[in-house]
Parts: sequence; C-alpha cells; structure tokens
Amino acid sequence: MRKFWMLGCIILALLTACTANKWQPVEGSAELLKDLSWGCPGWVEVRDGTVLIGAGNEFRAYVNTYGPRLMTNGDFGVAVTLSAAQDNLAAFSLVGRLGTTDWWDGGRKLDVGLEAGQVIVNYYNGVSFMPSVAQTFAAEGLSGKVKLEVRRVITEFIILANDKEVGRVTAEDAFPDGFAYFGASVRPQNTLTLYDITVTAPPENTTVAVDFSGGSAYTPIEPPLRALADARNILIGGAVEPQHIRCDQTYAEVLGREFNILVAENAFKFWPIHPEQGRYDFTGADTVAEFAETHAMQIRGHTLVWHTSTPDWINNATFTQEQWNAVLQDHITTVVSRYKGRVAYWDVVNEGISENGVGLRKTVWSDGVGPDYIDKAFTWAHAADPDALLFYNDYAAEGMGGKSDEVYNLVKGMVERGIPIHGVGLQMHFVAGASPSPEDIARNIQRLGELGLQVHITELDIRLPVEASKDDLDQQANLYQQLLEVCTQAENCAAFVMWGFTDRYSWVPNSFSGYDHALIFDKAYRSKPAYFSLRKVLEMPQSLGPEDFGASCNCAP
Ligand code: XIL
Repeated sequence: MRKFWMLGCIILALLTACTANKWQPVEGSAELLKDLSWGCPGWVEVRDGTVLIGAGNEFRAYVNTYGPRLMTNGDFGVAVTLSAAQDNLAAFSLVGRLGTTDWWDGGRKLDVGLEAGQVIVNYYNGVSFMPSVAQTFAAEGLSGKVKLEVRRVITEFIILANDKEVGRVTAEDAFPDGFAYFGASVRPQNTLTLYDITVTAPPENTTVAVDFSGGSAYTPIEPPLRALADARNILIGGAVEPQHIRCDQTYAEVLGREFNILVAENAFKFWPIHPEQGRYDFTGADTVAEFAETHAMQIRGHTLVWHTSTPDWINNATFTQEQWNAVLQDHITTVVSRYKGRVAYWDVVNEGISENGVGLRKTVWSDGVGPDYIDKAFTWAHAADPDALLFYNDYAAEGMGGKSDEVYNLVKGMVERGIPIHGVGLQMHFVAGASPSPEDIARNIQRLGELGLQVHITELDIRLPVEASKDDLDQQANLYQQLLEVCTQAENCAAFVMWGFTDRYSWVPNSFSGYDHALIFDKAYRSKPAYFSLRKVLEMPQSLGPEDFGASCNCAP
C-alpha cells in the first residue's frame, strides 16, 4: 500500500514539474514595462527601461492604473524580475480591485516579493489592514536579481522563485472584476527595481490577454460644470481621497476642472486624523485642503463626531465623563482650529439619530459625554471657528416621514436653545427607483429653511445593478436631474455634493453587494448620462420661482 502511495507521489511530482515547465510567455507581454504610467511622481522613477520604486519613510503601494491590465478569466502566470535594495518587503502586486481609500477599504491585492531572505506572499481581501493570507517560503538564490512568478490555477496560486516552485497559497475572489492591474508594494526605506514583467500561460490556455484599454477616457466639455454652477450660485462637488489626488492624474484633472466644492471621503474622520491619544495626523486632510485651495474650491469638513471611524483608543477607553468631555472638546477644537477660515462648512455631528429613526443613536459619544453631546459639539466647533457654518448630517431623512421628522425636531430644538447650528446635510445614498419623491425632498428642505437653516445635499450617489442597462443609466440621469432641480429651486439649498465623482473608486461595490455605477463619471472618466443631465439643469435660465412648485406651494403673496 505504502509503495503505491509513493509511486503515486512520484508520478504526481513528475506531472507537476512537467506541466510547470510548459507554461510559456504570452506573446508581446514582455513589453509590459514599456507602458510606464506608474503615477505618483517623485517616488517612481523610470530609468533605462527599468522601474525604480522608492518607499521613502512610508509604506508605498503603487498601482499602474493607466497601464496595461491583465485579463483574469482563465488561468495565467505573471513572472517578474526584480531586485530589492533592503531586506524588508519589496513585492510586485496584482491588484484585482482598487479600494476606495486603501486595501482595507474594498481593494483586492496579491503581493509576491522578497522579505528577510525569503519569498513572501500577502493577500489583502478588502476588509482588513492585515493580509488575509500571509505566508513566507524559503528558496535559494534570493539575492541580487530574482525572478519571481505566480501562476493562478483556479483559486490556487503557485509561487516560483528562479523557476522553481517554492509553495502555494489560496486567495478567494482575488479578481472580482475579471482583470488585474500591475503594481508594487515597498516598505519604508527600501527601493524595488523592476526589470521586466512577463505574462505566462498554461499549456491548455492560450487566451491569456493583456488589455491596453484601461486608461483615461475623459473628454473635457466646455464650459465645465463648475462654471455653470458658479453662474447659478450653487456649489457642486464630490467626496475625494488624498491618495487619488496624489497618484491619479486624471482624477486630479477632473476634480479641479469640474467642481467648485469638495469633501474628504475619509481623511477628516476621527480615526485617520486622530489615530492615537495625543497624536493627530493631518497628512491626508492637508492634501485635500491644499488641493481645494490651489483650485479655488470650497471645502466641506466631514466629520467631527460620528459613531464609527473611531480608533481603538476611543473604542476601548474607560474615561470618566469629565475626561470624555475633554477628549471630544480637544478633538473638535484642534481640528476646527487647524482649518479655521479654510473649511467653510463642517458636518459637526453625523448620523446621530438611531438606526430605526427614533430617538438619539446610542454611541460612544452619547454614552461618554452624555445625551447633550450634540449641543456641546456644535458649541465647541463654533468657539473654534465662529465663521464656519455648522451642519447636522444624516441619511434616510431626505424626504418626509419618521426619521426626517426626528432630524427636523432635533435641529429645531437646537435652534430654539440657541445652539450654533446653520444647516442640515441630506446624504442621499439612493437606489434608482426606490428613493423619496422630489416633492417630499423639496418640502423637507423648505421646512428646514423655515427654521432659518441651510441645506446641503452631502453624499449623493444613485446605485445601479452591476449589470446596468442603458435604461438604468437613463433612469439614474433622470433622478440626478430632478434632485439638482430641487436644490436649485430651493432658496436655502446651497450645495450639491456627490459621494465621489467617478465609479472608479466608489464605496458602492464594496458596501452594497450587487450594485455599482452610482456616480456621474464611469471608471474610465467617461461622462455618463447623469453628467449631461446635471449640465442641462445648470444651463437652464435662472431659477424657477416658488410658483413653479404648483399646488404644493403655500407661499403667501
Ligand atoms: C464611507 C466611505 O465612503 C468609505 O470609504 C468608508 O469605508 C466608510 O465610510 N455615510 C457617511 C460617510 O457619512 O462618511 C460614509 O463614508 C458613507 C455613509
């Protein structure tokens, strides 16, 4: 019995070795490094056909998003010749999906590289900072120029160093969109040099394809949206990420050209800006603020107080009530003061009403500071920048009904108590065909106006099924148009801000399974029907008067 087992093993080993050797380079793929749009100038240098990626003081993950992509429908291999200057991680990456912010935020990334004299494989599945797969393998000859190869067979990845298999890992759903970008990941102080990248194919699959069409398809139209919006005296913009401002040229171009307001999608939140007690990190927030200033854009600050995006030093804290007050006051004062005169609008408290729409949400802040934490937060923010306009921001409170009544009563109470609140943010994360009616939204905006409050549309996106049809896109465009009309027609609606602007980095696919395509530019920055429908509204002659609301208008002569 044992003999048969051994024989079986020998045959299997021979077969594996044999098949392994039959993997061949795909024709033309050795040219891959020649398309050198690696982004992030200053950290990536192209010298004599090789790419040098220096990390400096930070961990760097680059993605060549405008270069060629690997189509991942069948099995494939990628062989890279590389060398690392230091002993810490230097890896090539196959990026199956770009995250909104970083690898924990929806991205999918497989790193194969060198670390501490071994081959290292890390896989990030989009939900955690830590790789969901992290394995090292011993191998010979790992100094100087090394050839590392990864071969994907269904969900298994076979790892080779200098043409010898060193191990295997399994990474589920690594390429959900059917393609992978090439990238690299380098730890601080290290430099990675890439000499060549070659795509290889197993003997039974000759269809491995490299696609050169993933680049930008942005076609500027005159005049840009922001010029039309300026003429209508309205702010139009989107949520942004510092990383894309730095590393994606088209992203920065479209953002600066089309919009007159921006908001950071994550960079001003508690966790990124105040990661440890006593330590603030303004790197990302500053990138966003500086971009806005260079491009004469207004800034919405999002957000000072929220039940989520809190770091562990807050989540696990055992402070007294006095200490909680001091912590929150210090946070609000420090952040608002730093951007005093620069951030014109703050979402002071985000999503403070409970999930079921009744009463205040129970949060770390309501528990720690007490039920009056909202009043306190606004008062502290106002003390730090008396000129900033302060907003309460929430979702599912856009039209009329339970939760929106609750928000209305909350802010009405604040106004009556003399708390410095100036506006309400309506998030508007909508699904086409299932959103509140434009008439109800108009009525809600109007009643908030009667309290003397401004309204901003703060996080609009309209998601569609992944397999969206042309009709879906038209329906989406129609809703975008109606919502902008509501805002332009309401005297107190001053800003129309979307939760991003390109489908390329939207939070939607990661947060709503089966949905995508929620914004006005597609993943390659092509203008979608929704973009044109917004233009149409802004191009219309100056605002219709209240009489255009017809029957729903109760305006006195
Ligand atoms: C979301 C971001 O889009 C994601 O990138 C992040 O992982 C979680 O937060 N309501 C809000 C926003 O007020 O701050 C949220 O942003 C989306 C829902």
